[in-house]
Amino acid sequence: MCGIVGYVGEKEASDFLIEGLRRLEYRGYDSAGIAVYDQGKIQIEKKMGRLANLEKVLETHPLHGKIGIGHTRWATHGGPSDVNAHPHGDCHNHFVVVHNGIIENYMEIKKELLEKGHIFKSETDTEVVAHLAEELDDGDFLSTVRKVIARITGSYTLVFMDAAQPDTIICTKKDNPLIIGLGQGENFIASDIPAVISHTRRIYILNDGEMAVVRKTGVSVYDGEGLPVSKKIHEVTWSAEAAEKGGYPHFMLKEIYEQPKAVRDTVNIHIGQDSQIVFDTLNWNKSDLMGMDNILITACGTAYHAGLVAKHYIEQFARIPVEVDIASEYRYRRPLTTERTLAVVISQSGETIDTLAALKEARRLGARSIAVTNSIGSSIAREADRVIYTLAGPEIAVASTKAYTTQLVALLMLALYMGQLKGTVTNEQVQDVVKALQTLPEKIEKILENSQYIAGLADHLTKVKDVFYIGRSIDYAIAMEGALKLKEISYIHAEAYAGGELKHGTLALIVPETPVIAVATQDDVKSKMYSNIQEVRARNAEVIGIGFDDDRELEKYVTETIRIPRVSGFIAPILSVIPMQLLAYYTGVKRGNDVDKPRNLAKSVTVE
Ligand code: G6P
Repeated sequence: MCGIVGYVGEKEASDFLIEGLRRLEYRGYDSAGIAVYDQGKIQIEKKMGRLANLEKVLETHPLHGKIGIGHTRWATHGGPSDVNAHPHGDCHNHFVVVHNGIIENYMEIKKELLEKGHIFKSETDTEVVAHLAEELDDGDFLSTVRKVIARITGSYTLVFMDAAQPDTIICTKKDNPLIIGLGQGENFIASDIPAVISHTRRIYILNDGEMAVVRKTGVSVYDGEGLPVSKKIHEVTWSAEAAEKGGYPHFMLKEIYEQPKAVRDTVNIHIGQDSQIVFDTLNWNKSDLMGMDNILITACGTAYHAGLVAKHYIEQFARIPVEVDIASEYRYRRPLTTERTLAVVISQSGETIDTLAALKEARRLGARSIAVTNSIGSSIAREADRVIYTLAGPEIAVASTKAYTTQLVALLMLALYMGQLKGTVTNEQVQDVVKALQTLPEKIEKILENSQYIAGLADHLTKVKDVFYIGRSIDYAIAMEGALKLKEISYIHAEAYAGGELKHGTLALIVPETPVIAVATQDDVKSKMYSNIQEVRARNAEVIGIGFDDDRELEKYVTETIRIPRVSGFIAPILSVIPMQLLAYYTGVKRGNDVDKPRNLAKSVTVE
């Protein structure tokens, strides 16, 4: 996910470009750049890191001009660096582009263009688009862009400048957002409304395949056949702040609602031909796995909880013993890690210092390593031998939601992939899980449709001092994540317990004022779980049960039920965590807390 802006008018283009990028920084922030038509040519300035780095460069090398484009990046092809930052130009910066999305056939086009003598500077898929335009240039900007689009496959928002037509920007999109803000004597292009809202509230929303020719005097839109389209003007009624969050009151809620897409994207990159699971970045064969005695998973916070679920996945499907350790504990206990250990570190940000240090220690002891991270080119991604990326997109709220569900998806697929290679799972088992994963986004949507009911349940929690979360087997691991979410953003004391362990001490704390959230999705321990629920009901505690929509028994034992669609026990945690995220969110909001930035916490902790 990247942020795109464009400007054509009478003012300094770079002023709007920088301001617009700042409002879109939530879409990506590993590098940024702008291109402006200045002194007879298109000039580019770009810089790795936050937008502030680019602004610093522009202080000494300002770009003056009245037309330009800009980009803030979240790396996909090619790590974050100055040279991989957008905009990208062809050999002579005649055509310059910014891009959001993925050009799937860029390798093949790049090969062809290299043979024709084009010189590439970056590792990105985007740069081929600029060179392709140079190659196909017929002197007519719109016709050249149309030819480029006909050659590329994938998903994209693309915005082009042509040095031969310095009064025009052309943009188009497929499966990625793009809007055009309509001003007086000036027009704006952006990935999202927040970038333009302080300049205009009148916008065009571009549809897939449409192409817009944007000049200061007006905007003409054409369909895929090149025929003019008459667009409807949308009047934006949101405030600037609400617009940045896509209309949601908080990033956390927005990110909870982005889970269907995040899960779909993460599933899709690991499904190969014949619905087999693929992990291109691992490049393993059976003997690699046979050489592993054990797996060490280490991480912090929510990522650690994903590791606890992954233990169930890997032990079940790959039949390799897994130990899960908190990263800050691991390296101070003389661990029994050897060169026959595979270390799997999980980190949304890829920058958590405890996790990075644990990874370094495991490697020092000879372990091979994999990082599961959401952040391309991060320190942890660079340190590990191999990397698996989750495709959650930038996560802004401190409390992790979509990063967690995508970690579960990636780790489940990794476990099956290992089982596939080792021969410890049947093809049928793989196919069953793949099918279930493919329908998961719709099931998540279904839970989200029920969010008002969950918001109502949050009223039960706002005044309490303690909440217990219980579950057995994988449900215990998910209960731990549910309890963490509540602690993080509502500041209510919450604790997770294995259902069977309650009676060994904790029952003393269960009183009528202590609500219990009971997760009951694991069929093999269902009857035991019902007994544990009855133990707490007998102490008059209120119990909110989370179970499958066809489970008629659960509701007999609990005071309230949150239903999730029926799936297998392995998939269930990816669904059952969502009502817990919502419950924590609404409780935090109802208590008046700043849920996106909870007290004392940081998104990425780079101190030990
Ligand atoms: C911090 C955040 C948590 C997060 C943990 C690990 O403590 O507040 O939400 O789970 O770091 O972060 P990582 O980026 O390594 O997944």
